[in-house]
Amino acid sequence: MSFRTIEWRDNAVIMIDQTRLPGEEVYNTYEDFKSVAEAIKGMIIRGAPAIGVAAAMGVALGAREIIADTHESFFRQLENVCEIMARTRPTAVNLFWGIERMKRVAEAHRGKSLDQIREALKKEAIRIEEEDLTICRNIGKWGATLIPQGATILTHCNAGGLATAGYGTALGVIRAAHEAGKNIKVFADETRPWLQGARLTAWELVKEGIPATLISDNMAGFFMNRGEITCCVVGADRIAANGDTANKIGTYSVAVLAKENNIPFYVAAPISTLDLSLSDGSQIPIEERHRDEVTHIKGIAIAPAGVSVRNPAFDVTPARYITAIITEKGIVSGDYLFGLRKAAGI
Ligand code: MRU
Repeated sequence: MSFRTIEWRDNAVIMIDQTRLPGEEVYNTYEDFKSVAEAIKGMIIRGAPAIGVAAAMGVALGAREIIADTHESFFRQLENVCEIMARTRPTAVNLFWGIERMKRVAEAHRGKSLDQIREALKKEAIRIEEEDLTICRNIGKWGATLIPQGATILTHCNAGGLATAGYGTALGVIRAAHEAGKNIKVFADETRPWLQGARLTAWELVKEGIPATLISDNMAGFFMNRGEITCCVVGADRIAANGDTANKIGTYSVAVLAKENNIPFYVAAPISTLDLSLSDGSQIPIEERHRDEVTHIKGIAIAPAGVSVRNPAFDVTPARYITAIITEKGIVSGDYLFGLRKAAGI
């Protein structure tokens, strides 16, 4: 891929600034954990697996910033770093998964020197990033088996290289099908209000030379009804034990439309996006973001001041609308309660 979403370099975290794409390809450098937390909140980096990596790297940076005479003081301050990282965005479980993984590594090295603990945390954060790339390629490999020759695939939001350490989950499936010579085409929903589809997915697809058509969100039904869409592939922010899936707002509408039109609807996500502690999707916390994202586009008002606004960033698609969930461990369908636990190795 011709861009890097996030990397650890010279004891700093480098991220492509996703708020400035597609106009400008700018890489920001972060040297302290609080600025990484702000970058996650401000959507400089976004997408479930990518914010998991960013949170882990943020914790590794935070560990370097801690000044402590004793292990007790170090671990107390590390807990505070983790809490600040955890308060950035509530829906994508990968964020909490990344932080927990870092905490476990710190605990496992409790008997070592503080510098050894800091080094172990840095290595773990880099490992999480590298593993994510391999995971996405495996999701792609499994997912491509579901994509027929000549398919036209609808995707929503951005579940691409930008939303992961690279390659993508839903876009990983699309990339793998393209690489396999399946002669596919993609419809990208623009994904209001933040325009991840128009700004990010379209950017990735054009860069990659995968035939892409951009549509506004309200056009999906039109094309499905005319038989112009073969299947849908989307990412996920959190998947409950029964398969109910939180993903970008508007995903639920796409899934319902797909069922109405007898079109398979696939979710592509790593095991780290499963939250098997939740029995169903009603328990998934849904982030509500600032009203300006709805009332303004690029700083220009498109609605009268004073109008009341709601801006949930995610919705939950009930499992009954999901044809299959594609993970790095294989494809799960039918009995999600059993299949997801098996994929997670439980
Ligand atoms: O608000 P965002 O841009 O972080 O939301 C991203 C999504 O909803 C993605 O579809 C999801 O995180 C999967 S990314 C591989």
